[in-house]
Amino acid sequence: MKNIPHDYYLRFVDAWVYEEVLDFHSKGNFTLHRAFKDRVGLHFLNEKQLVQLTGNELVLYPDMDLTVGFALPKEDIENHLSRNESCERFLSESLDFADVERLIFPLLSKEGGSYKRGYPSAGALYPAEIFICSLSNENTSWPEAGKILHLLPRSRKFEIMQGEADPELLKSAIMESANDIGSPSMAIIYVAYMPKSLFKYRYRGYRMSLMEIGSIYMLVELQAKSLGLACRLWSAYTDSMLCKVLGVNPALFFPMCVHFIGKRHETY
Ligand SMILES: Cc1cc2nc3c(=O)[nH]c(=O)nc-3n(C[C@H](O)[C@H](O)[C@H](O)COP(=O)(O)O)c2cc1C
Repeated sequence: MKNIPHDYYLRFVDAWVYEEVLDFHSKGNFTLHRAFKDRVGLHFLNEKQLVQLTGNELVLYPDMDLTVGFALPKEDIENHLSRNESCERFLSESLDFADVERLIFPLLSKEGGSYKRGYPSAGALYPAEIFICSLSNENTSWPEAGKILHLLPRSRKFEIMQGEADPELLKSAIMESANDIGSPSMAIIYVAYMPKSLFKYRYRGYRMSLMEIGSIYMLVELQAKSLGLACRLWSAYTDSMLCKVLGVNPALFFPMCVHFIGKRHETY
């Protein structure tokens, strides 16, 4: 059996570990829906407190001057690898599918059949699944216009998701709270497939799947910069709504974060 069915992993999962991780993960769910708009809140911090508490670095000895500076030559500093800042507002423009392929390319296995990919994975389990969705109605260069694509990094192919992917439904699932970021052209959804994550490393697998997703989105950020595309990571969505649009079981597939990609609005 070369390509095993995804739920085959469940045979090797400890049910107790699985239930505890699912319970813990569920505590991090947001319910973002206009029906609950004035009924739920995340915190009671005011703007002043937020400004004070965010953007900080953690100095361990704030009362003592125990620091040394960087002594790098100017050319080293100028040539370093860097991502762009997150996009504040996207222009409403569709992306040519060739750009989508270029964007995703660094994640793939190299030609020649190695299972290794463009990003590392603890124990080569590769529990991170990547779904690609157009958010634009003018996506004529996309294969199977309107359908969500699931990346197969080793085969270097996209699998076409079979659900009815209505772009408006998709937008309402991921952009319910995103009124002021304009119109990103596409969304990449990073999902951890939990049975694959937990069958070997148990609770620690959860941590490893999150780190894998972080390394994937950083690679995408760097590639996006080189293609002149803008990005913004996004976690303000309701997991179950997103799984419904993808047509996957929310008890097995945990959508860890969304990456909006598009063209930057120059005035922002
Ligand atoms: C995992 C993750 C989730 C994020 N989710 C959101 C989000 O839901 N809404 C948002 O406005 N920004 C989100 N961001 C973007 C951060 O706010 C942003 O990265 C941070 O303010 C630093 O700014 P910079 O990306 O421009 O350097 C997210 C970033 C990460 C890494």
